Amino acid sequence: MGFKSVLLVTLGSLLSFCSTAKVNKHFFPPNFKIGVANAAAQIEGAWNEDGKGETIWDRFAMSHPDWIFDHSSPQVAADSYHKWREDVEMVKEMGVDHYRLSIAWARIYPDGYKTEEPNARGVAYYKNLLRSLRALGIEPMVTLYHWDLPQKLQDDFGGWLSPKIVDIFADYARTCFELFGDEVNWWITINEPKQICEAGYGSGGYAPGVFSPGVGNYKCAKNVLLAHAKAYHIYDKEFRKKNQGKVAIVIDSNWFEPASAKPEDKEASERSLQFTYGLYGNPVFNGDWPAVVKERVAQRSKQAGLKESRLPALTKEEIKLIKGTYDFLCINHYTSHKVSAWYEPPVTDTSFGADIGVNDWMPKEWPKGGEGWFSVWAPGMRKLLNWLKDTYNNPEIVITENGLSDNTGTLEDDHRINYYRDYLSNCLDAIYIDNVNLTGYTAWSILDDWEWRTGYHSLIGMYKVDFNDPNRARIPKKSAAYFTQIAKNRCLAENPAECIH
Ligand code: BGC
Repeated sequence: MGFKSVLLVTLGSLLSFCSTAKVNKHFFPPNFKIGVANAAAQIEGAWNEDGKGETIWDRFAMSHPDWIFDHSSPQVAADSYHKWREDVEMVKEMGVDHYRLSIAWARIYPDGYKTEEPNARGVAYYKNLLRSLRALGIEPMVTLYHWDLPQKLQDDFGGWLSPKIVDIFADYARTCFELFGDEVNWWITINEPKQICEAGYGSGGYAPGVFSPGVGNYKCAKNVLLAHAKAYHIYDKEFRKKNQGKVAIVIDSNWFEPASAKPEDKEASERSLQFTYGLYGNPVFNGDWPAVVKERVAQRSKQAGLKESRLPALTKEEIKLIKGTYDFLCINHYTSHKVSAWYEPPVTDTSFGADIGVNDWMPKEWPKGGEGWFSVWAPGMRKLLNWLKDTYNNPEIVITENGLSDNTGTLEDDHRINYYRDYLSNCLDAIYIDNVNLTGYTAWSILDDWEWRTGYHSLIGMYKVDFNDPNRARIPKKSAAYFTQIAKNRCLAENPAECIH
């Protein structure tokens, strides 16, 4: 999903929208995994404890408090570093199959670079956490990189802008496979490259805040893909036989609903999908950049008088290295937009949006979440799953994030319940009606967290965290009971007697 622009219009309370859609009452298939998620930088806190190094988000938030909506920082967050036992219990009580978490690179290698010994206290933290989850029968799904680059790597060579990052990330990945491989069957290399690259190194709205539209974002994209691919191959060659786990990259995408049945509006939708999911998905699943992205960026670069395309080419060897580096497909999905054909933006505008070149908006009639930049339209989930199935040759798909933020933090969060019900119902339609090979769903988030640019202003958890309480008490919202019921019944019908096999 991600932060759309620096505009932060507080719409006050979120709408408690009701759905008129019919709920699919099928049971989830027997092997379907239901889980909850969060990430290190957003919940752990303890930002400089036990040898952890500084990250780009620590620096971004602490040196520019005005860049964060409520001037907060991830210093303490939900204090999960100290309260992890309580959090593991919470996950257990929800009766879910898996818990998606991330490892903070800077807890393992404080400066990011491999050292003779990894930081023992950081390693111990994750070992305890992972072993406790497994002891309770909860499968950990572990992300190696959820946006928290060690600051030193940014300072030394520009982070994801430099090809140097590829081998340094690969070293860190190998260390994690070695240290935690016995506890982890599901590995995610990198979370949401679009946000890392476009927001971090294109528009500059996210850490490290590099403003290089239409140049930095594409350089970063190539390096992220190569880093992911190297990590995948390391697992494949050195660990798969012993640990028998699965490895994938998480890519996020909105659904882009064509505004009409006109071919040019359908093309606007396809183009938007190729620039968002496809920019990363096509090299991984089909090989090379998507044709439409390659052509448009090359043409716009040429018309602007550049000798080379702003999108760096992938060599034959690079395409070979990246292609096929997945054991399943991951999608993070929160929102849908409408799109239609547009005029060609001037070639001097190198922004990512201009490269896409479509008219993209949130229709008034769709309810909004968060700060108003998030429109809720559950059929988009089913449509996106079908698009992924058709575009990438029917892979196994796991939804690694889906959820709804608000600004009130209310415990009576019926809007969140409705959201989960409608989005999950569309997942069941995709499975039973469209034969999409969807095998897992992960709700974001188990608890309120530090939401990057929106700090503690965006509240997205099924457990409320009182960020003014030094003890960071966790309090279940109504949605926590609802999600627990789904995990137990494996079906969305209110009356379990109505569930259909
Ligand atoms: C990110 C999460 C974030 C969520 C909700 C996703 O883009 O992966 O870290 O909390 O969106 O904003």
